[in-house]
Amino acid sequence: MARILRCLVLIASIVFLGPPSTPGFAQSVPELLTPKTPPTPQINGPKVYGVRPGHPFLYRIPCTGTRPMHFSVKNLPASLKVDELSGIISGNAPAEKGEFVVTIEAANSLGKAARTFKIVVGDKLGLTPQMGWNGWYTLYDHPTDSDIRKAADAMIASGMADYGYQFVDIDDAWARKPGSTDAEVGGQVRDEAGNILPNVRFPSMPSLTQYIHSLGLKAGIYSGPGPLTCAKFEASYRHEDADAHQFNKWGFDLLKYDMCSYRNLVKEGNLDDLQKPYKLMGSLLKELDRDIVLNMCQYGNGDVWKWGRQVGGTSWRTTGDLGLAVGDSLPGFYSVGLANAALDAYAGPGGWNDPDYILIGTVGDANNRTAPPKATSLTPEEQYSYMSMWSLMASPLLFSGDMAKLDDFTLNILCNSEVIDIDQDLLGKQGKILRKTSLELILAKPLEDGSIAVGLFNLGKAPRTISVDWKEIEKRGRMQVRDVWRQKDLGKFDDTFGTAVPAHGVVLVRVEPARRKL
Ligand code: GLA
Repeated sequence: MARILRCLVLIASIVFLGPPSTPGFAQSVPELLTPKTPPTPQINGPKVYGVRPGHPFLYRIPCTGTRPMHFSVKNLPASLKVDELSGIISGNAPAEKGEFVVTIEAANSLGKAARTFKIVVGDKLGLTPQMGWNGWYTLYDHPTDSDIRKAADAMIASGMADYGYQFVDIDDAWARKPGSTDAEVGGQVRDEAGNILPNVRFPSMPSLTQYIHSLGLKAGIYSGPGPLTCAKFEASYRHEDADAHQFNKWGFDLLKYDMCSYRNLVKEGNLDDLQKPYKLMGSLLKELDRDIVLNMCQYGNGDVWKWGRQVGGTSWRTTGDLGLAVGDSLPGFYSVGLANAALDAYAGPGGWNDPDYILIGTVGDANNRTAPPKATSLTPEEQYSYMSMWSLMASPLLFSGDMAKLDDFTLNILCNSEVIDIDQDLLGKQGKILRKTSLELILAKPLEDGSIAVGLFNLGKAPRTISVDWKEIEKRGRMQVRDVWRQKDLGKFDDTFGTAVPAHGVVLVRVEPARRKL
């Protein structure tokens, strides 16, 4: 009888509580740590924006809260206007260099919010890391105009744009493929005047970018300095000037420039050879009458982080493709992230280390590109670690999963306003490695308000307690600690903070001097 009872209790506990967890991975039931955003207005995303004098300006105020929302901006330069309902600021930047501090205000029937926003008219673009989506890891060699429009729609509908996601980037395979007999991608690759032609899957680039802009979002395109892209489509070699002008005329705001076949042209690969094509494209983009940010993709060759900024890069990939990275005991993003983490000295406003995309949610397999995208194999804890690491490293936050299949868990990873604040912080410092052992990683990022974001990462297969001493983060005495994922104050701590961290997981905290009670 007792045995039957025990058996019944076990069956009931499996039905109601789920199966017993694998030792060490106790939290594999997805737990949504990000609290629900309040229905009252909350302004999110970057607090600063760089634009060249007189150039077109477009910014959709990222703001959560129940719609309809009413937006206004105090002290907005006269050449700009804000649409009251959509919160899209547009127009042309002032003609003179300078800083314009404005106050964004948002109000709905439940309340209002205000936030200071600085428009910096000058030479520097990308004063905070880009946020957005890139189509490579879901669309691979088959992107279409309609896929890109749907991704832009989903960026609005999912709420991602309300947290600061803004770029909608086409990757490879929009151009034509030299020598191909495939009716969809073959045919003449350039017109008589040498202008690059899109393939039939992209009937009108100007109409596509206009559509993206009408939503207040920005459009990215892809090419490379060699004759062919990585997927063997037409690229910009010997047509750099024509292509820069064409991308501008079409209305793009970002160019990812991928080295690929250029490697075969420069067998020696000395620094001059590596820099030349990026210098060329960087200076061409600078001369245009619109801002196009340059995302350099040459996998870190020649220590690109040391000179990417000088040749006009706004960000530079520091490693090979994350989708192809294989880990031994840990998934590939850890090794890519760790390689990138060592380069903290080189990142800052206007120039960012780029450790590649955020591959979570429903995502394609880079080793089997024709297979349908499927749910990530990363555990929930690994996904929290991924997003925390990228934010602590002030990395571009470019999601590359399927925008049509965004589930609540994936959105909880991508859209935590306090995690994003760490990535987009005004100081623009990349977090430093404070500790790295086979079981622990600690990254610390100084923030503009004097606090420090600290990520305590457990690299091991079993839960463990990880502690950080204030002296390691150059602080002393009593400090206030906030759990950033849960957006919850944990209390005041003297000299040290220690916490249990799940296997392959993270606890991300913000440490600030304890405020005196008034
Ligand atoms: C390279 C890049 C990827 C992607 C592909 C496209 O592998 O690193 O990010 O752009 O090319 O072919």
